Amino acid sequence: MAFMKWIDDFGVGVEEIDHQHKDLINMINELFDAMSVGQANDVLGEIINNLIRYAVIHFDTEEGYFDQFDYEFSEDHKEEHRKFKEDVGKFKEGFETGNIVLSMEVFKFLKNWLINHIIGEDQKYKECFRENGLQ
Ligand SMILES: [Fe+2]
Repeated sequence: MAFMKWIDDFGVGVEEIDHQHKDLINMINELFDAMSVGQANDVLGEIINNLIRYAVIHFDTEEGYFDQFDYEFSEDHKEEHRKFKEDVGKFKEGFETGNIVLSMEVFKFLKNWLINHIIGEDQKYKECFRENGLQ
């Protein structure tokens, strides 16, 4: 069974962004599966790097629309993205230097952050994006 599942409540009414959110969920699942079968650290490190790279692309997509549409909660939302990048960056550094291991706690953090962010902050731009003709 997959560690994380997409549910329709995650939808923000924009195909491009829903697709990216699904990809992020898939990548977290891929990392979880790789850890579960005891993959080596270099394999896990590679997946972590891909996940971070993709998260940055995704954040840039959202933030590009915020700027384009002059979205009112842009600053708070960007701050959540910034904090996440900082936290995950620290984790990546710790993982690469062998000071932090990939644990259930890390997965719970990723899962909770993504779910809370999608059903919280992301849902707030739904109306703004729709009004600006994005779908
Ligand atoms: Fe977001």
